[in-house]
Amino acid sequence: MRKKLLPILLFLIVVTHTAVKSETIHIATNETELVLQTAQNGRLFQLYLGPRLAAADDYNHLTATMKSKSDGQSWEAYPVSGTETYFEPAFGLRHNDGNMATVLTYVSHDVKKVSDDVTETVITLKDVLYPVQVKLYYRTFAKDNIIESWSEISHNEKKAVNISHYASSMLYWKRAKYFLTEFSGDWAKEVNMNTQQLNFGKKMIDSKLGARASLHVSPFFTVGLGDAPRENDGQVLMGTLGWTGNFRFTFEVDNENNLRVISGINPEAADYTLEPGKVFATPTFIFTLSTQGTGKGSRDLHRWARNYQIKDGKGDRLTLLNNWESTAFDFDEKKLEGLIEETKYLGTDMFLLDDGWFGNKYPRHSDTQGLGDWQPTANKLPNGVPALVKAATRTGVKFGIWIEPEMVSAKSELFEKHPDWVIMLPNRERYYFRNQLVLDLSNPAVQEHVFGVVDHLMTENPQLAYLKWDCNSPITNIYSPYLKDKQNNLYVDYVRGLYKVLDRIKAKYPNLPMMLCSGGGGRTDYEGLRYFTEFWPSDNTDPVERLFIQWGYSQFFPSKAISCHVTSWNHDASIKFRVDVAMQGKLGFDINVKELREEEQTFCKSAVATYNRLKKINFSGDQYRLVSPYDGNHTAVMYVGEGQKNAVLYAYDVYPRYAENLLPVQCQGLNPAKKYRVTEINLMPGKTPAEAFNGKVYSGEYLMKVGLDAFTTSKLHSRMLELEMVD
Ligand code: DGJ
Repeated sequence: MRKKLLPILLFLIVVTHTAVKSETIHIATNETELVLQTAQNGRLFQLYLGPRLAAADDYNHLTATMKSKSDGQSWEAYPVSGTETYFEPAFGLRHNDGNMATVLTYVSHDVKKVSDDVTETVITLKDVLYPVQVKLYYRTFAKDNIIESWSEISHNEKKAVNISHYASSMLYWKRAKYFLTEFSGDWAKEVNMNTQQLNFGKKMIDSKLGARASLHVSPFFTVGLGDAPRENDGQVLMGTLGWTGNFRFTFEVDNENNLRVISGINPEAADYTLEPGKVFATPTFIFTLSTQGTGKGSRDLHRWARNYQIKDGKGDRLTLLNNWESTAFDFDEKKLEGLIEETKYLGTDMFLLDDGWFGNKYPRHSDTQGLGDWQPTANKLPNGVPALVKAATRTGVKFGIWIEPEMVSAKSELFEKHPDWVIMLPNRERYYFRNQLVLDLSNPAVQEHVFGVVDHLMTENPQLAYLKWDCNSPITNIYSPYLKDKQNNLYVDYVRGLYKVLDRIKAKYPNLPMMLCSGGGGRTDYEGLRYFTEFWPSDNTDPVERLFIQWGYSQFFPSKAISCHVTSWNHDASIKFRVDVAMQGKLGFDINVKELREEEQTFCKSAVATYNRLKKINFSGDQYRLVSPYDGNHTAVMYVGEGQKNAVLYAYDVYPRYAENLLPVQCQGLNPAKKYRVTEINLMPGKTPAEAFNGKVYSGEYLMKVGLDAFTTSKLHSRMLELEMVD
């Protein structure tokens, strides 16, 4: 025994008494710098996170003022539970001998240039007593001012260990005040922006839905550092987790008024059993620090997302006609052929067939049955999907289809055949969300089945141009027949199973555009978007609500990723208003075209043509949120194309007051020294453009400093203005 202990003791003496050379690690974009430093005891601390300093040697001064202490108030980079971490830890592990303490010390770090713009830093930390290793990863995107951080946990203990905390990131701030903006709501009321001051203690935003990240709150946030977040000035941290499952952001203000921000998978009911030799990789936490408010932060996120994250981020997007709102489950081949014709008539690129096309023993005539049985319903579609794809091709449009392959109805052949593929408690009454259950994606056989649903459709219909992938139910009745005594791994392994399927789909069908949908906006995270070209933000398509919903999502996502459909929600709003709202994002229609008056149909057709002409400005330009819908009765947004040559301004009057004083809309992002011609576009047939500014030429400076009288006192009124550089 003594013999065994001696080397450990000697090692400890050496480690604790030898002055370890201090390592300073700089992780930087062009605008933001994170500095980490080791202390005498080898542990790693955050020394600085803020705007990048021009003079490199200025960072040396930080040692004197901000030198981290190795006590409970210290800013340890990846603090561990079970030691003197008195606040919320980033990492917690129960060793297989039952000991719950881990002390991580610096071993090495490595900096790799991935490209001119992207640098990856990996820091290896180890426990001196147990064979446990944590690697901290930081990937910086210099021009876009984005940092991703995640960790990899592994060990070589004799048996499995349990990890109870496994954050992707831990960041610290010292300011007088902190304000958190969260994006909360419910089904059809997504992303309401609420801001509150953070005082001593913890505020958590999290979800426990299993198969989706959000229902009541979305996996992104903004923190105003010093002041409440503002659009065009002030320091803000904007962060989001790339994980299509349970997430948790913890904001803890400690006894010294430091703010600690911990981001990662929600470890609730998910203390992970990790086998020796296996690596547990946490999802990426993606953040930007803007010193010019949320507007700049959003533009950086949008650019980064298009350049690096979203499937086909730089590519085009398809306009479409969807049938969900106009037919629901009530259609047959003939009706769909009519809709395919209408798709062509509108000038949209594609017809998208939604829910209700499958199931024979239990036909999908409502949401009560049929999910899982992906064979076309014979008496609705006697010639199957191929006949519809052919009809679309004949008509000169593309064809897309809805699936929800992770789910099963209790009334389905799939459930009858494979009850062991379903997540459900074996010994309790089942709870159904939308009459359905979730398939157990931790099981490789289920992964194979889900991949097969897509692969079969694509093999049978090589011309199939688009998938809308829905996921309506959170995981209920949490129990995996496959994982047996490792039920604690299910929440994590479900999402990993999903990614395995999506990886295979992306590898085999790299150019297939896909919409990520989850009963509205339940899946709006950046890891999901690696596999999807766009997402469905909400089942609420009332254009007034959409002004708020789109404003909320635009904080984090670029317009080409946000599907916006014109529907018949809110008949008080004209078709022009509805179209003008949807044209900000990825345009689609989900409306009975035949119910529209002739002039409305003509308007929609010409709006699609206008959209095609101008979409590049929204898709690859910069977005400026000019007037917030939260601030009153009007809202305005503009997009400025690359090179500042073209721009589109969208101005909406929602419910103005009688004889309200109207303020001009001041543009942003233009070249002040250049001249721009303003044209009012997207008008109903026969309507004349606003005389006050239509056709006039202004300097960029005038448009930004003085602005245009684009608002009116008319209810539910909208204007689209095109700005073209003329010299
Ligand atoms: C929920 C989606 O959000 C809707 O757009 C529609 O696809 C339905 N599911 C179909 O069941």
